[in-house]
Amino acid sequence: LSGEQPYRTAYHFQPPKNWMNDPNGPMYYKGVYHLFYQFNPYGAVWGNISWAHSISYDLVDWVHLEPAINPSDPFDINGCWSGSTTFLPGEKPAILYTGDDIKNRQVQNLAVPKNVSDPLLIEWVKSPHNPLLTPIDDIDPQNFRDPTTAWQGPDRLWRVIVGSKINGSGMAILYRSRDFVEWIRSDNPLHSSTKTGMWECPDFYPVSANNTNGEEKFSKHVLKASFKNQDHCILGNYMPMTDKFEVDTDFLDEGLDLRYDYGNFYASKTFYDSGKKRRILWGWVIESDSESNDIEKGWSGLQSIPRSVVLSGTGRQLMQWPIKEIEKLRTNKVSFHEKEVKDGFIFEVPGITASQADVEVSFDLPNLDEAESLDPNWVDPQLLCSQKGASGRGRVGPFGLLVLASKDLTEQTAVFFRIFRRHDNYVVLMCSDQSRSSLREGLGKTIYGAFVHIDHREKKISLRSLIDHSIIESFGGDGRTCITARVYPKLAIHTESRLYVFNNGTLSVRISSLNAWSMKRAQIFPMQNRRKQQ
Ligand code: FRU
Repeated sequence: LSGEQPYRTAYHFQPPKNWMNDPNGPMYYKGVYHLFYQFNPYGAVWGNISWAHSISYDLVDWVHLEPAINPSDPFDINGCWSGSTTFLPGEKPAILYTGDDIKNRQVQNLAVPKNVSDPLLIEWVKSPHNPLLTPIDDIDPQNFRDPTTAWQGPDRLWRVIVGSKINGSGMAILYRSRDFVEWIRSDNPLHSSTKTGMWECPDFYPVSANNTNGEEKFSKHVLKASFKNQDHCILGNYMPMTDKFEVDTDFLDEGLDLRYDYGNFYASKTFYDSGKKRRILWGWVIESDSESNDIEKGWSGLQSIPRSVVLSGTGRQLMQWPIKEIEKLRTNKVSFHEKEVKDGFIFEVPGITASQADVEVSFDLPNLDEAESLDPNWVDPQLLCSQKGASGRGRVGPFGLLVLASKDLTEQTAVFFRIFRRHDNYVVLMCSDQSRSSLREGLGKTIYGAFVHIDHREKKISLRSLIDHSIIESFGGDGRTCITARVYPKLAIHTESRLYVFNNGTLSVRISSLNAWSMKRAQIFPMQNRRKQQ
């Protein structure tokens, strides 16, 4: 193992080599999951972008196929950029993607499968009508990209949105079409914002709350836009007759800035899995190492573990959870129950491969009433996490996990909570602190933080972390708040890596249960192997 690259992952999606960015056009078709992604066939940096293509039966094991769409024509010769798939009547998939055209203008193109009876959809043909949408009138040719999955209105017309920026406002331009070829721009965008800058990779979809005890299920629409290296979401009510989207809160609203992930997670995209009747989210997790190191290791970029997305019972936030299928990789289970973690205490979770693991822990908070009070000036959770790090003392917390830690703890990533009192309520702060993640220099080690909005009457909080060599995906409060980080330890690699539980609060917390597993390697087959097997 020691000869193996320490930062390649075992169960996160990544190509055999080279650069990867956005997930594109994910779908479930005739029993097969498809993932396309932005890919450079020639190197570990961004460029020569094509749509690489992989397939899976369970979203865990993958077969890499040849790229589905490559730059070839005047309408996409400088790159086949992000886009989405839509099912046309008769369950015929169609891809809308952005072409960087011969004049470096961004245009929207259509591609369809050569043979729809092939469940692997290996070959795609570009429409003779391309480009379908061009940057005319007030549309900036450099800010016009990433078409969503289209949807049909009550009038049978197709709708699609495209990310843009016009007169300084980020927006989703709306188009309508009868035949999916000729598109007419709507007078009004679906939504826009003066605060955001350009919207990349918009996504728009219905989401509902899990149906508990027969109560009426309600649903909302999510609009996601990618800007400032972050994926932001808003919830609202969409009126399909008029295409009005009435939002509950808006992008970057103070105190209510919903994000899928408060760490490293960008240009994400969802799809509806008609097989398992769920909405699944993929997101790109970029390296935080230097470009020269990316080139040296020969690759750059991961995809998050696919996450199911539902609306919380309050209807005010989203909840995400790693797809169930990933649990098939769990092995070597270690458990603790009803274990008190006293003031200043730290203990190791032994017996697992801590560099490749899945950990779920649930903490009871018997001493909540004695939590320290939150200074009303402390409004920025990320700043709070850096100022009140894992080693500082608090009352209820900091408590949580030290992951990818070296034996001497000189390397460690702390994923933890700290709880404050505000008026007669509580505020849960969740942090992922990468500042001591590696003895190596020249890495991005940003500390991430966010609040977790839970029901405090329950007096407990859960944390799950998926650890995979150079990525840590953490889900707080049953997936109400997610934080993903990239780390590159020098010592804490392979079997030298350890996992600990700690409490640096002066008050005890109690682990009601902790389950940790080593994770097996997902099976990834390159195209060549598949051919040989035939
Ligand atoms: C987002 C993005 C998209 C674009 C693609 C190009 O990361 O910039 O807006 O289509 O990547 O690779």
